[in-house]
Amino acid sequence: TKKAVLGPLVGAVDQGTSSTRFLVFNSKTAELLSHHQVEIKQEFPREGWVEQDPREILQSVYECIEKTCEKLGQLNIDISNIKAIGVSNQRETTVVWDKLTGEPLYNAVVWLDLRTQSTVENLSKRIPGNNNFVKSKTGLPLSTYFSAVKLRWLLDNVRKVQKAVEENRALFGTIDSWLIWSLTGGVSGGVHCTDVTNASRTMLFNIHSLEWDKELCEFFGIPMEILPNVRSSSEIYGLMKISHSLKAGALEGVPISGCLGDQSAALVGQMCFQDGQAKNTYGTGCFLLCNTGRKCVFSEHGLLTTVAYKLGRDKPVYYALEGSVAIAGAVIRWLRDNLGIIKTSEEIEKLAKEVGTSYGCYFVPAFSGLYAPYWEPSARGIICGLTQFTNKCHIAFAALEAVCFQTREILDAMNRDCGIPLSHLQVDGGMTSNKILMQLQADILYIPVVKPSMPETTALGAAMAAGAAEGVGVWSLEPEDLSAVTMERFEPQINAEESEIRYSTWKKAVMKSVGWVT
Ligand code: G3P
Repeated sequence: TKKAVLGPLVGAVDQGTSSTRFLVFNSKTAELLSHHQVEIKQEFPREGWVEQDPREILQSVYECIEKTCEKLGQLNIDISNIKAIGVSNQRETTVVWDKLTGEPLYNAVVWLDLRTQSTVENLSKRIPGNNNFVKSKTGLPLSTYFSAVKLRWLLDNVRKVQKAVEENRALFGTIDSWLIWSLTGGVSGGVHCTDVTNASRTMLFNIHSLEWDKELCEFFGIPMEILPNVRSSSEIYGLMKISHSLKAGALEGVPISGCLGDQSAALVGQMCFQDGQAKNTYGTGCFLLCNTGRKCVFSEHGLLTTVAYKLGRDKPVYYALEGSVAIAGAVIRWLRDNLGIIKTSEEIEKLAKEVGTSYGCYFVPAFSGLYAPYWEPSARGIICGLTQFTNKCHIAFAALEAVCFQTREILDAMNRDCGIPLSHLQVDGGMTSNKILMQLQADILYIPVVKPSMPETTALGAAMAAGAAEGVGVWSLEPEDLSAVTMERFEPQINAEESEIRYSTWKKAVMKSVGWVT
């Protein structure tokens, strides 16, 4: 059969906390042609610890590339049309590996991991100068969330890491660096780099000068020689070189030319290029980012300042304010894996629909403490307001409501910081296919919630950055490119008063979740 003729195609790796995907888009229409997804294991070796196997992550990328290429073949699409590849990834998650063997020296310490709580407490006692030392340079509060303290822990506790650093064999990276190094040849010439958005989540990167910060590295005791080179989010970093994996090797020689932390990628994929445009992505966690243009805006209400994107070596850097919620989709996975009240994540919608209310039950999933706007590491999860009438359907509903209440908290903070309230919320991510969740979200925010019919905006953003890179040039970042995108809209259906009552009861529940760990 004749192969279908298409314009240039662009592939994107979307390596999230819960799963890995590889997706292929038509660069002319932004149409998603094919994709494959693999779930990723999470290990919880001790209370509060969260780890992943970097080799499994890499293997899942190979598998997704292979399967997607197979599917394209079945559609008669020639994979030689793939002209570039972008990478987007879970941010902050920390890997140290040996550049001579290619082996990770410890599991990846995942962003949600809490083992560094005492490290953070000790460091906060000896912050030099004023308390703003870390925040003024990085835009971030000193927290277990970011890579610097995870790396500090690895240097203090893992002999293999210490030895590799002494022998000049250690490389540090967030997941983007680990993947790009491996996909561009690994031990035989892999490129050790990261982009400005991922670097801005390490707590070692100065978001004003766009360089690793010597003073911060000294403060955290990080040897600068193990850090990756920081590049823009859209440029050719290297070429694919993965010949040991036969089918994934079909992309041999294709440039990797886009790299963005997943939340920045979604901002780009949602075309939020203007000052004041925002999106909320529902993944493992939930992240609301608002583009603040070329200025760094510092929050007074518990939000982070972060690099939004820099789409080319000579292009300007854009910043964002971010509201980060640690647990969103993860609460559904917990109901599935730990309580077993659902077999698949999709079943949550059916359960919640059966009752249509939590019947006074509130679920605060503070499994990793509370992030924005509280930054309260002492919080732990609670389910409260239970009676003998409460059943699993009410708990399922309360879990969905929790995601919406947490979003309301970060939206309120964002509105206060920005001064101009958002008129609607652009959303994306896996959970947005849950219609009950989307309606609840509109009810609880009391503004319309708008979602693109193609929810894979994270991958789309990475593909756009890759396709637009200098030397690739198959994607134009003009907004009209996506004008054909259809949107689904959810309008608030309950009255504002009812919405406020529910929200204030949620706040009471949040207060009860604080102070469980001292
Ligand atoms: O900061 C963590 C974030 O990047 C994780 O994203 O999609 O895995 O929830 P996700």
